[in-house]
Parts: sequence; C-alpha cells; structure tokens
Amino acid sequence: MTTTLISGGTVVSATGRVAADVLVDAERIVAVLEPGSELLGSDVATSVDRVIDATGKYVIPGGIDAHTHMQLPFGGTEASDTFETGTRAAAHGGTTSIVDFAVQTYGQRVEDGLAAWHEKAAGNCAIDYGFHQIIGDVNEASLDAMRKLPDEGITSFKLFMAYPGVFYSDDAQILKAMQVSRDTGMLTLMHAENGPAIDVLAAQLVEQGKTDPYYHGIARAWEMEEEATHRAIMLAKLTGAPLYVVHVSAKQAVEQLAWARDKGQNVYGETCPQYLYLSLEEQLGASSDQWGAFEGAKWVCSTPLRSRAEGHQDSMWQALRTNDLQMVSTDHCPFCMKDQKELGLGDFRKIPNGIGSIEHRMDLMYQGVVTGEITLERWVELTSTTPARMFGLYGRKGVIQPGADADIVVYDPNGHTSIGYGKTHHMNMDHSAWEGFEVDGHVDTVISRGKVVVDGNEYLGAKGDGKFLKRGLSQYLI
Ligand code: URP
Ligand code: ZN
Ligand code: ZN
Ligand code: ZN
Repeated sequence: MTTTLISGGTVVSATGRVAADVLVDAERIVAVLEPGSELLGSDVATSVDRVIDATGKYVIPGGIDAHTHMQLPFGGTEASDTFETGTRAAAHGGTTSIVDFAVQTYGQRVEDGLAAWHEKAAGNCAIDYGFHQIIGDVNEASLDAMRKLPDEGITSFKLFMAYPGVFYSDDAQILKAMQVSRDTGMLTLMHAENGPAIDVLAAQLVEQGKTDPYYHGIARAWEMEEEATHRAIMLAKLTGAPLYVVHVSAKQAVEQLAWARDKGQNVYGETCPQYLYLSLEEQLGASSDQWGAFEGAKWVCSTPLRSRAEGHQDSMWQALRTNDLQMVSTDHCPFCMKDQKELGLGDFRKIPNGIGSIEHRMDLMYQGVVTGEITLERWVELTSTTPARMFGLYGRKGVIQPGADADIVVYDPNGHTSIGYGKTHHMNMDHSAWEGFEVDGHVDTVISRGKVVVDGNEYLGAKGDGKFLKRGLSQYLI
C-alpha cells in the first residue's frame, strides 16, 4: 500500500490552522507532523512513496455533502446524476463523502426502498456514501421498519410537510414518526413547508395565467416555511425528538430555529449555496434566447429562492456565523433543461424541483472566506466537520488526525475558476445554475481513503472506489 506525505501546507480544522505535514499510510492518516519532521526512526513510517507539495495551500478534511439526491424519481422524471456521475463530480469539487436520500415511496415497504437504493449505489460511487431514509408513507409497518434502521447504519430519516400526494406526511404521521426518533435516537430531518396551503396558492396563480418559473417562489411564500418550521419544532418538543430542518431559506424560519435552540431544544438546520447567493429577483429577471423567461426554471427548487430585498440571504450568512444554522449541504438534485425542466413550460408546478451544485459547494463556500462572511475554520466546520458530527461519522471523517480516514483536499487559494453554462462542470447537466460565477480558489488534489482521485483537473478515481458508510447516531446533540 502507498505511503503519502502531504508537505508544506497549512492544515485547517474547525478550530484552527497550523503549518504541518500529513502522513498517510494506505487508507488512513497516521501522523500530523511539524513541517520537515524527520520520518526515519518515527514509529509511523520509514519510507514515503509519494510527496504532495502543498506549499502555499490549505490542507483540509474532505468535504461531506449530507444532502444529495442521485437518480431521484421526482416530478415525472429522474434526477440526472447517477451515483457514478454525481460522486465523480463531487470528487472534482473536493467532496469525499455524501449522504444521499434512500426513498420509500407511497405504498412501498421501507425495506424495499432501502434495498433499491443500495442497488443503485453499490459499485458505482467514486467516494464514500451513506444514506438517510425518506419515509414517504408513515404507517405501522413503516414505523416498525424505522426502528431497525440504526442497525443498518442509517440513523436519520426525512419527512415532508410539503408535496401532498407524493412524500407528504400529516401531523399525526409526523408525531408517530417523531416518537420513533425519540426512542431510537435517530435524527428527524424535516422538509418544512406547508404543502397543502402552497398547492392552493399555486393553483390560484396558474388560474390567473401566472405560469412562469418565478411564480414557484411566490406560491411558496416564506410564511409557509416559517409556519411549518414552527410546527415541526413544537411536534419535536412534544415528542422529545431531535430535529434537523433541511434546506432552510427564510429568515423567519431561522428565527424559529434560534428561538427553539435558545430554549435548549435539540433543533438544527442547514442551508444551501443557492439560498446564500441566488435570489427571487434574479429569477424574475432570468431570460435567454433559447428559453425566454423560462430560463428561470434552472433555479426552481424547494424551498424556493427568496427575495434579496427582504434580507433572506444576509440572514443565512449571519446564521452561519452565529451557529443558528450549523452546516451547508447542496440538496443536489439536478435536472436538465431539455426534456426535464421543460416539462413545466406553461405551468411552473410541473417543473421538476432541484438544483445541481455538488461540484461547487466547497468553492462557493470558500467565497464566503474571500469576502469575509466566514472564517477559514468556519468554512471547514460548515462543509466537513459538523456534517460528520451531525450524522455520526466524526473521527473517521471530518477531521485530519491520526486514525481518521485519509479524505483530504489540498486547496489552492490562488486558483481561479469561471463557471460556464455547460462545459466547465462534470455533473450530468446541460446547464449550470452557477453560470457566470467567478470562483477564487481551486481544488488542487483530492485524496479519498488514501487514493488520489483528483490531481489538478484530472480524475484518477474509479467507480466502486466509494464504500457504503454505516453511520452511528448523531455526535452533535445536546
Ligand atoms: O427542490 C428540491 N429540494 N428538490 C429535492 C427534493 C427535496 O425536497 O429535497
Ligand atoms: Zn426537501
Ligand atoms: Zn433534498
Ligand atoms: Zn478543478
């Protein structure tokens, strides 16, 4: 097995930065050494097969994207990244683990939904992967099956207060599922939007002829996110379930989370790059020769983009600084414009919901360091260390220390990338939601369990390199 020394870099963790060399033996980190330490005679290694020069660069734990949807059947089509293409793109972007959402659809057994997800992913991933379980049909059999999930390494499940007729759970179902969360210690992940009310508003807009993508965000008003977030918090309080709200975009939803956290409740939240950088106003202004105003469909996701004038984006950045939000995931759920987003021409309700960002998350969040919104350490914490702790992977992932998996990114702060429409990414998409973004910094080298999988822009990994991660219970709860 290969022994690798990453020398001359600045090792950044959630708590600080230090000039250090990192020694990797096979799949593990075996030592973090003072720069130029004499290896001979140390008990960790007597020879090094390969040296990676990280002079002038940051050495960080590989990114963990804890919210992805590879091959998700949704909106009459299927998310366009397979586990193979999506995890390869993730590797290019400095992400070395994902937690994807296995799906139990309505009428299906949880066990069968999970088995189907294992089948999609096994042998196809470039990087390590774990699963959350979507419970799309809460019934007695599902509740029984959920109790066994931790033994399978699945320690979190997602419920939906949105999407009636698809994944939606009513309050009675949520209450019962949260009781399982309390009993087992599994984390309840919640899509917090009032779906039934949104569907009424959406239908009324379409009746008025307001069918462009922009109206998706009008129908999904922030009041619907605030209300659902509050309801989820109260049901979690009542049952004693730990709660993690996914894809938070509304300022008022963050206020609800902060309110509950101040009372000592086990309530957490993530936001996503789209809610930090993109806005409803830009979606209204979106237009192209090919698609006209329908160009805005590339930014249709749920929760939706929010108004910049209302201050939602600033509020997300602030919450990332104050730890009212604890981490950043992508909610990577890509659809091509052609044949997929296009299904919603003339009716925004039929646009498949989702944005593809898995390849850009580390870079986009690094821009927060460049602009001074967050520190370098917070960047590492939000994108790697907290995701590891939140979802029971810490120690093995999320940190550069002896004994941890050698998931390491060498990041060049002097690199630069201009994101283009369709040619500058590896995600299986015919467009980019991030076209026109200028990114300072660049992922130089990516090591996944000891193997160099990305060197410069060259991919050296292979499908099947990534292994299933059996996760433990959350290491973040109070
Ligand atoms: O628009 C989104 N978020 N699509 C993926 C499904 C979900 O609700 O996370
Ligand atoms: Zn969701
Ligand atoms: Zn999602
Ligand atoms: Zn690159």
